[in-house]
Amino acid sequence: MFLVKFELMKIQIINGPNLNLLGVREKSIYGDSNFETYLEELRKRYPDISISYYQSNVEGEIINKIHEVGFSFDGIILNAGAYTHTSIAIADAIAAIKTPVIEVHISNVYKREEFRHHSMLAASCKGVIAGFGMDSYRLAIESVLSGK
Ligand code: DQA
Repeated sequence: MFLVKFELMKIQIINGPNLNLLGVREKSIYGDSNFETYLEELRKRYPDISISYYQSNVEGEIINKIHEVGFSFDGIILNAGAYTHTSIAIADAIAAIKTPVIEVHISNVYKREEFRHHSMLAASCKGVIAGFGMDSYRLAIESVLSGK
């Protein structure tokens, strides 16, 4: 008898500081949908992927989550918020793990203040998706699915 073990693809979404306030915070930049509502849509759209979600405003907690999933998941979609522009520690965590990380931003950071134009993380990531609103996360899932 054959036993076929079928495992769902596992993707971890990590949102960093202030992204718990999506739908409330600076709506003209980040839109008026909260992340939980959007996450439900994503899970309906991709029933064959296990999509885990974690949000923290604390740098070390984001690093701990990257370590926790970084050797077993198929992809990490990371919006590190303002830590994108400052955190060598998160960059080191990304470089230390096996799972590919895709950096995402809701807003087009290149259209905004100069200090948002530089990412400390991008060089350690597989790629960067920015400026497509919440759809940036879906595009990142598509890139994990494509395996490229
Ligand atoms: C952001 C862009 C960052 O510059 C900012 O600090 C955020 C959100 C985005 O998703 O557009 O918190 O990562």
